[in-house]
Amino acid sequence: MKKSQRPPKKYITSFYNTISLIGAYIAAGSFGVIILLILMDALSPHGTPYLGILTWIIMPVFLAIGLLLIPLGMWREHVKRLHGKGTRTLPKLDLNEPSHRRSAFFFLAVTSVLALFTALGTYRAFEFSESVTFCGQVCHTVMEPEFVAYKSSPHARVKCVSCHVGEGAEWFVRSKLSGVRQVYSVLFKKYSRPIPTPITSLRPARETCEKCHWPEKFYDKKQTERVHYMPDENNTRWYYNMLIKVGGTDLVTEHSLGIHWHINNKVEYIAIDDKRQVVPWVRITYKDGTSRVFTSEEETDGIDFDSMPKRVMDCMDCHNRPSHIFEAPQLVINKFLESGQIDRSLPMIKSTLVDLFEDIEELETTAAADSMIEQTVREFYAEEYPEISETRADKIEQAIEVAKRIYRRNYFPAMKANWKAYPNDIGHLTSVGCYRCHDGTHTSDDGEVISNDCNLCHVLIEQGDGVTVKEQDLNGLEFKHPEDIDEEWRETGCYDCHGE
Ligand code: HEC
Ligand code: HEC
Ligand code: HEC
Ligand code: HEC
Ligand code: HEC
Ligand code: HEC
Repeated sequence: MKKSQRPPKKYITSFYNTISLIGAYIAAGSFGVIILLILMDALSPHGTPYLGILTWIIMPVFLAIGLLLIPLGMWREHVKRLHGKGTRTLPKLDLNEPSHRRSAFFFLAVTSVLALFTALGTYRAFEFSESVTFCGQVCHTVMEPEFVAYKSSPHARVKCVSCHVGEGAEWFVRSKLSGVRQVYSVLFKKYSRPIPTPITSLRPARETCEKCHWPEKFYDKKQTERVHYMPDENNTRWYYNMLIKVGGTDLVTEHSLGIHWHINNKVEYIAIDDKRQVVPWVRITYKDGTSRVFTSEEETDGIDFDSMPKRVMDCMDCHNRPSHIFEAPQLVINKFLESGQIDRSLPMIKSTLVDLFEDIEELETTAAADSMIEQTVREFYAEEYPEISETRADKIEQAIEVAKRIYRRNYFPAMKANWKAYPNDIGHLTSVGCYRCHDGTHTSDDGEVISNDCNLCHVLIEQGDGVTVKEQDLNGLEFKHPEDIDEEWRETGCYDCHGE
């Protein structure tokens, strides 16, 4: 066949080179895969985290590489053909040539489809990177403790980014930059276990929590009932019914009172440990501009408070665990005893489980914990209560299953996360919490003390075991400790005996 008789090529001739063709195949292939993945995602009943990464982050990279190869190959081809001709001209486009026209239209069509697709893809990639799936499940091991705790928290339907990023461009960029660093530390296992808190770079609560919670308007008093079971043979029940003075600001008089008084008054403090648990210096600035400084008896010789950074108290200084609550075993077991999921009539069940959790805390894997739970509980009843061990075997097994559940929800050995690693600042029973300042030792120069009056924050309206002791008084009762410890609870903080 003579050269002139060759059938005309369909597209611009420079397109027919190895690089451009490979590029075209890669692009078409990845586009096909993306469409397939989108279909799979739409059809699968519950999406998987990795599908999203593949669809919206990895495959588009291949698509882009393929598309870039096409013009690259064409340019090389063009340069090759000019070689030797001595002139350097740009490629010519002549729309009168059918092959050029076809190429131009094809190019325009593909580009518009892809432009549309890119817009959608970018939006989906953005949406995906902000999703709970992406934050909570992609780096499975690292985020597991927070994700599991989050799922059974009051904020289970609030997106991670609502608290961790919030609105606005600046924090969006900051979060993506820190995201890159996090991916690096996960890939190279450079993260700390447990993840250290407080997160010093966390966005101020005023810009996150307050998007949903109106700080000037809180509530009145909140009634709460706390049931306990003692670590004795009969698992003796004991409960407190109390009104917590949540408080806030009266919208008419603008007078603040109760616990949320702190956010409508400026309270600053200095913590001398990195978990912000030891607070020897507190300053309050009243509405009229005057201020008062309180210092504790803490050993603070040689510390120059003036030069230290001061933190203005916000929501997070009390609500540091609004979503990732790791519960202390002695308290969470009470809930299962109360609901009947652990049989209260099994002698010593409370103390057996509490002691057990002390020991399994040290274990490295969930599997090891499971077998220790089974072994310890079964052996205890076989040795101490052989009859019950036989007649009530089903109840013992049920208690074992619940204990495993408690473990899975509250202990994460791979990240060393549990209630001891993450103290909750809201109360004062298992961690120092409010008593960081309200321990009765923080005194000002003019002799004022930050109050530790038991009625400052709540009113105890009912207490007892409900059978032999049942005290009720709407004006407030004097606290009775469930175990006889004399007046020790007046002198020693609850957390000193009940904390870690
Ligand atoms: C209601 C707000 C809120 C939501 C929703 C939320 N977090 Fe948090 N998160 C916090 C606060 C507050 C802290 C503790 C900050 C501190 O102590 O400095 C925190 C801490 C963390 C930490 C550090 C370790 C720890 O336990 O303190 C990780 C990791 C984390 N969150 C991941 C997530 C993930 C993943 C999601 C979504 C599945 C999520 N968070 C949802 C508020 C939230
Ligand atoms: C996107 C909205 C949103 C954001 C942001 C948010 N919350 Fe909430 N919060 C909620 C919802 C919804 C509830 C559940 C309300 C209910 O149960 O009536 C809730 C409940 C609470 C409760 C009551 C918990 C309980 O035990 O009932 C507290 C305390 C709280 N949030 C504190 C915070 C703090 C602190 C932050 C910031 C770190 C925050 N929230 C951020 C929406 C939000
Ligand atoms: C001085 C500590 C402290 C500060 C600061 C604080 N809170 Fe609270 N908040 C509490 C306590 C204590 C409760 C009672 C909850 C309980 O005991 O379960 C509470 C209750 C709440 C509730 C639930 C109210 C109800 O009736 O269920 C919400 C919502 C809340 N706080 C949001 C916030 C937000 C948002 C901020 C920041 C603007 C904030 N809190 C600052 C200590 C604090
Ligand atoms: C960083 C220190 C600090 C922490 C932590 C703290 N408070 Fe306070 N609180 C203060 C100061 C300072 C005052 C005001 C004392 C004064 O004016 O005499 C105050 C006052 C109060 C008042 C009285 C408000 C009024 O009506 O006058 C209540 C109630 C209260 N706090 C509850 C709590 C609770 C509950 C917690 C824990 C969840 C807590 N506080 C944690 C510093 C703190
Ligand atoms: C500065 C505020 C404050 C002071 C002072 C205070 N409490 Fe509390 N207390 C709280 C808060 C807040 C909670 C609720 C914590 C939570 O939601 O788990 C609480 C919870 C309790 C509970 C219920 C614990 C449980 O889980 O069963 C008891 C009992 C209690 N306090 C007794 C006392 C006694 C006794 C005193 C005096 C020695 C005292 N409190 C002083 C703030 C305070
Ligand atoms: C001197 C140590 C000590 C102090 C201080 C103390 N307790 Fe206790 N508490 C005990 C002992 C011992 C028990 C018996 C159960 C156990 O061993 O955990 C107990 C049991 C309890 C229980 C039942 C526990 C459960 O497992 O459900 C509650 C509730 C309780 N104390 C509340 C308080 C409160 C509130 C304060 C502070 C006002 C306080 N205690 C101060 C030693 C103490």
